[in-house]
Amino acid sequence: MTAAEQTKRSYEQRPYPGPDLARLVGKGGSLPSLKWMQAIGRPDQPEPDRVLVAGCGTGVEAFVIRRRWPKAEIVAVDFSPRSIAVARRLQRSAGAVRPITFLVADLTDPELAEHTGGRFDLITCHGVLSYIPEPRPVLTHFAACLRPGGALYLGVNGQSHPATRLRPWLERFGLDVVEMKDERRLRELLGLWDCLHDDGVRDFASMSASYLASDVCGPHFNNWPMDRWRSEANRCGWEVAGVWLLPLALRLTIERGNHLPLFPAGVGELAERLDQARPAGFHKMLLRRAKPGGLDLEFGRNSERRLRWTGLYSVRFVKRRGSGRSTAVLRCPIFNLRLDWPLTSGQVGTLRTLVDFGVFPTGWQSHWVRSEASRRILWLWAGLGVVTFLE
Ligand SMILES: C[S@@+](CC[C@H](N)C(=O)[O-])C[C@H]1O[C@@H](n2cnc3c(N)ncnc32)[C@H](O)[C@@H]1O
Repeated sequence: MTAAEQTKRSYEQRPYPGPDLARLVGKGGSLPSLKWMQAIGRPDQPEPDRVLVAGCGTGVEAFVIRRRWPKAEIVAVDFSPRSIAVARRLQRSAGAVRPITFLVADLTDPELAEHTGGRFDLITCHGVLSYIPEPRPVLTHFAACLRPGGALYLGVNGQSHPATRLRPWLERFGLDVVEMKDERRLRELLGLWDCLHDDGVRDFASMSASYLASDVCGPHFNNWPMDRWRSEANRCGWEVAGVWLLPLALRLTIERGNHLPLFPAGVGELAERLDQARPAGFHKMLLRRAKPGGLDLEFGRNSERRLRWTGLYSVRFVKRRGSGRSTAVLRCPIFNLRLDWPLTSGQVGTLRTLVDFGVFPTGWQSHWVRSEASRRILWLWAGLGVVTFLE
């Protein structure tokens, strides 16, 4: 049996997620904020008309998206007929305002766009590509499914994901991880594992056997660092527009003033450099179709780059006594961040226009790109998701 067949068999036996789906939908599933996806992935565009949920399992992701965007047309696909049957049943019992179209489809099928109708504004694919041995063709099929200006959200395993270590470890104690049973021995071993990894991030001992069997001890994993995922995506014409962990990681470097060696680097490059130093267990990344010079964060002295205020942050200006200068206090509820930036009066004036109208006024360059210090502010703001580039 190939790894793909084993994966399918595993999800047929145990559709994902298991029993507590209603609770998961209630707390928003594991997806990052849809506001973030829209602001960074599709700046300057209305809410999506058509969304594809690729590898939807029993439908949590699709139901969460339906709540946020009640009018969108949502198509959700999975290659496990049993998972799709569960999703359809749940939909019938919930009686959604606008039904989601649940379909059985394989993401590796070159005719994915024909099967799903294509023309999507947003594709979400959470926790799926890590189980597909060759994800590159899937990334190409996604491109064929996208409308111009659309975005792709990917949630994929990172290098420090415990999957590759936990499975052989359990096998070493004689456990059958293929036919995993919810036995006492399994719980004892998971308790031991958790106690040895007391990082407060994961608590395997309390996870359902079905989740453990398919998602943690499954037959195949691409537990790749950011640079591998990024290079796979680049080869298929995608460019990294945002990475969920980036604002939090960057904040750590800014707080102690250690960020200077990172400058300048585009969003994707920046995320790679940080991931190399501190490998993530899971990457949540937003991709757009690559354009020449598209999302690079380097600013020339006469930069014509068009920046967009993302609306993810609020801004308040505090005057600094005696200096004629102000500090912009930026707050982002999504990332629970607060950052203070001392600015010149010219910067304050242009920033007010950026906040009110979404884009800088003409002549903004004289305040923002003439010195390295101010170029660095824009560069940091792009990494933090305060601003993003328009194509
Ligand atoms: C971990 S689950 C994630 C489900 C959903 N995205 C979520 O986050 O709730 C992975 C899903 O990917 C599906 N899957 C894996 N390979 C696939 C493929 N080649 N085509 C379609 N679905 C696939 C599995 O059947 C499974 O339902």
